[in-house]
Amino acid sequence: MSEQWTRVCTEGELLPGECRVIDVDGALVALYNIDGRYYAIEDVCTHDGGELASGTREGFVVTCPRHGAQFDVRSGEALCAPAYTPTAVFPVKVEDGVVWTRDDRW
Ligand code: FES
Repeated sequence: MSEQWTRVCTEGELLPGECRVIDVDGALVALYNIDGRYYAIEDVCTHDGGELASGTREGFVVTCPRHGAQFDVRSGEALCAPAYTPTAVFPVKVEDGVVWTRDDRW
């Protein structure tokens, strides 16, 4: 498990409603600001690798731009076909106005 946090941006650089994709130890992570709270998921659709951050978002649900699978950014849960496997979620912390995340899978 990586204990290394990766700096994403300052809070002012990711406003409510915005999303940013960053590389965290080789994994692409989509970090969302939803109503002032931050959520990080892997930017990979578990159906066939679509870039989730390129899709649309309504509330906590993102829709893959390729074939329409949906995921909950809070849990990574796949909500409908053609995806059945959750995408990874990552911890987020804010310290002194800076947003951090890390890949804690390994
Ligand atoms: S790649 Fe995302 S629904 Fe197919």
